[in-house]
Amino acid sequence: MDKIIVTGGAALKGRIPISGAKNACLTLMPAALLTDEPLTLTNAPRLADIHTMKELLSSLGCEIASLQEGRVLALGTQTISNHLAHYDIVRKMRASILVLGPLLAREGRGVVSLPGGCAIGARPVDLHLRGLEAMGAVLDLRDGYVDANAPGGLKGAVFEFPMVSVGATENLLMAATLAKGTTVLKNAAREPEIVDLARCLRAMGAQIEGEGTSTLTIEGVDRLGGATHRVVADRIELGTYMIAPAIAGGEVVFEGAERSLISSFADKLEAADVEVADVDGGLRVRRKNGAVRAVDFETEPFPGFPTDLQAQLMTLLTLAEGRSTVAEKIFENRFMHVPELIRMGAKIDIDGSTAVVDGVSELRGAPVMASDLRASASLVLAGLAAQGETIVNRVYHLDRGYERVEKKLSACGANIERVSE
Ligand code: UD1
Repeated sequence: MDKIIVTGGAALKGRIPISGAKNACLTLMPAALLTDEPLTLTNAPRLADIHTMKELLSSLGCEIASLQEGRVLALGTQTISNHLAHYDIVRKMRASILVLGPLLAREGRGVVSLPGGCAIGARPVDLHLRGLEAMGAVLDLRDGYVDANAPGGLKGAVFEFPMVSVGATENLLMAATLAKGTTVLKNAAREPEIVDLARCLRAMGAQIEGEGTSTLTIEGVDRLGGATHRVVADRIELGTYMIAPAIAGGEVVFEGAERSLISSFADKLEAADVEVADVDGGLRVRRKNGAVRAVDFETEPFPGFPTDLQAQLMTLLTLAEGRSTVAEKIFENRFMHVPELIRMGAKIDIDGSTAVVDGVSELRGAPVMASDLRASASLVLAGLAAQGETIVNRVYHLDRGYERVEKKLSACGANIERVSE
């Protein structure tokens, strides 16, 4: 198993290109099940989760060619040869549930294993299922699978999400494109990945209004066609790397970055005395005056502060002047980076879903254990600033969401390497 070894203390200088968004790509790929024509995705990230989605779609009859070293994915589903998403794949990646809406919409049938709990909490899929039921699907839950049927096809419906869910919004949006009549999704998620999906579906011939707002209106069409679509930039990869010059010092330009993807996060960085400037082709980040200041924040659905950047900003705040309060409002169990940061010298107290961080003057390198994707990223960031060597074990978590983290950071002068055992 690979390890990442970081020796802290080097200030960073250079440019980091931002890849296409993992979470957008994971919902754009299942959209290929909605049509028998080719869907080509450009700017795809090369990540383990994308590989898992390829495996799942192939098992359903989708043919996939990876071109330009995996940057371009050409997907074609002339026929759906299988309606079952097996537990062995779904357990690896919860986003597998996103095939259910397209399967039901095109074929009137889909059988998908229910994802179990995962490291960051229970994460049920009840909203996906309730929305599909509102559109006329009949669900049978047994042996850990949901067997969904809509023999006469899905029907448009008005569905209000009781809480904002990114995945459920994506699943219902895809399902509604081929349903009979009009679907109105209220209290829908507004994340840039939803906007990206809506744009792609529209290029395929779907009739959608309201993406980026909390009400989506979809007029079902009889069929969708092929399209070529460029995957939006990964705002979570961007936010993660933006912490690097803030915690280690120096300055880095992020190519292909747009502030609008990440404004709530950029506002918090600025409040912490880190400058985020629009420059030609991207964003530049550096500290304003040397020290970083404490800030309070809580995670919320977009356009609020993303839960997927909570661990990374908290890591910066371990070295800030003063006390910061961090409230995690989206997922339970999302403080698994905290015990590892404490082992590196951070001062953090957890009370339920709130963490209180008292800034310290230095972190010390240590062997640490990565527990989930974003927690792992935060430990690499801590290592950039820590005295001595930090060894991040279980790097496979990191590889699910970051393309060769060590290459992007060492190109800016970080002392970081991957060691395979
Ligand atoms: C997506 C992202 C993930 C991000 C999360 C929140 C992908 C592949 N993953 O996950 O990186 O952290 O959005 O921004 O895009 N919930 C229910 N019932 C449901 C669905 C969700 O109770 O049927 C709850 C969840 O437990 C959680 C909250 O709703 O507390 C938000 O989850 P959701 O937005 O659905 O997250 P994902 O789509 O799984």
